[in-house]
This record gives sequence, C-alpha cells and structure tokens, in this order.
Amino acid sequence: MRKPIIAGNWKMFKTVPEALAFAAEVKGKAEVDGVDSVICAPFTNLPALVEALKGTQVKVGAQNLHFEDNGAFTGEISGLMLKELGVEYVIIGHSERRAYFAETDEIVNKKVLAAFKHGLTPIVCVGEKLEEREAGQTKDVCRVQTLGAFEGVSAEQAVQVVVAYEPIWAIGTGKSSTADDANEVIGYIREQLAGKYGAAVADAIRIQYGGSVKPGNIREYMQQSHIDGALVGGASLEPASYIQLVEGA
Ligand code: G3P
Repeated sequence: MRKPIIAGNWKMFKTVPEALAFAAEVKGKAEVDGVDSVICAPFTNLPALVEALKGTQVKVGAQNLHFEDNGAFTGEISGLMLKELGVEYVIIGHSERRAYFAETDEIVNKKVLAAFKHGLTPIVCVGEKLEEREAGQTKDVCRVQTLGAFEGVSAEQAVQVVVAYEPIWAIGTGKSSTADDANEVIGYIREQLAGKYGAAVADAIRIQYGGSVKPGNIREYMQQSHIDGALVGGASLEPASYIQLVEGA
C-alpha cells in the first residue's frame, strides 16, 4: 500500500510573513497520520518555513534546483544549498519550468540525479499540452518524459521518487481531468515504470495527479487505484483549503 502524499506548490506566491502565517494556521491541522504533507515554497520562504514547521508532520520542499553543486550560474540554487536548509523535497520539471525556462527531459534527469546526490526527494512532473492531448499523444508524451526523468536512477532510488502527472491544460484552469482519465494515464505511467524496473518497484512508486485539484474533488482522485495523492497549486495557498486537501487524502 503506497502512503498518500499531498504537496502544495505555491509557485511565486507568499512573502515570508505570509508563509509564517500559513504555517501557524496549519500546524497541528494539516497533519493526518498515514498521509505525507509537503509545502513547496519559493526559495525566500524556505529557511523560515523549515524552522516554523520543525517537529510537525508538514515537510518543506523547493520548486526547483540546479543540477550542479556550485558554479557561475547566476540566480540559481543547488541541491547542496537546499539540503543545508533542511528542505526534504524538490519539484523537478514542472510544466511551467519546461515552458518558460527551456527545461528538457535531459535537464530534468540531471536534476533528479542531483536531488538524490543531496538526499532530496524528487517530485517529478510530467504531462501533455492540450494540443498533444487532442492529437492523441498523451501517453507518448508521458512515457518519454517519465523514462527520460528516470534515466540512470536505480531501483532503490526509483521507489523514493514521487511522480506528478499534471495535464497542462488542467493547470490553473479549473478544468481538472476526470478522475477516471487521470487514473488511466497514471496507470500507463506505472506500466512504463514496470517495464524499466519490474512490477514490484513500479507498484511502490507514488504517482500524484495535479491540475485544478480542490477540496471538493480530492476524494474522487484518492479513490482511484493508481492515484496516490495530488500536487496542488491555487488550492494550497489558503490554510483552510490545504488542511481540507490533506484530510481528504
Ligand atoms: O504543480 C501544481 C500546479 O501545477 C497545479 O496548479 O492551480 O491547477 O492546482 P492548480
């Protein structure tokens, strides 16, 4: 049985005081036994959030990392630096980074390996564009992105990876994928992982759905056989909503 995981992706929202206010609200509430709860915040919030949530079940994640430990990479943050802050998770390959920052499957893979080098749990995003879905390419896109991300990842590492299937057309639009459709695509992703690692490893890998998940629909997804949680944007910004998402898992 895979442990459910709810992760909030705050994207570029919240100053430090706002992050601390959120932490104060969710402490003791977004903590359900048997459910992993993670907040992936902007870099500027990470030290304060790690300190504020210390001793709680709510873990802290980043939304990106550079694959080098250090170097002339203006504006970048390395896994070494995130680990030093006490960060435990890192989102890698979000569609917004693939789109706006030209992140390729090769770069995503380098970031996954760098995350493991520094003991960070990768949350690897895959998902198709609307035009790819309309062209019947959803499964092809997810296969290529998934296997690209797992290149050189051992079976022992693979079981630690969290995959997030996020159809791009469902992100921030309110048009979430149906639970059945998400489950079918996630089942396909799991099959591709079974082809690489065998069924036992693939069955141990947690795969989330992301794209307009709300407290009102989280249970539909969690009742699906292949879905192990959600990666949530907008609905993770408000404490009450985030608590309901964790409780719904
Ligand atoms: O990474 C999660 C995000 O892409 C989903 O955003 O606002 O549709 O929940 P949202």
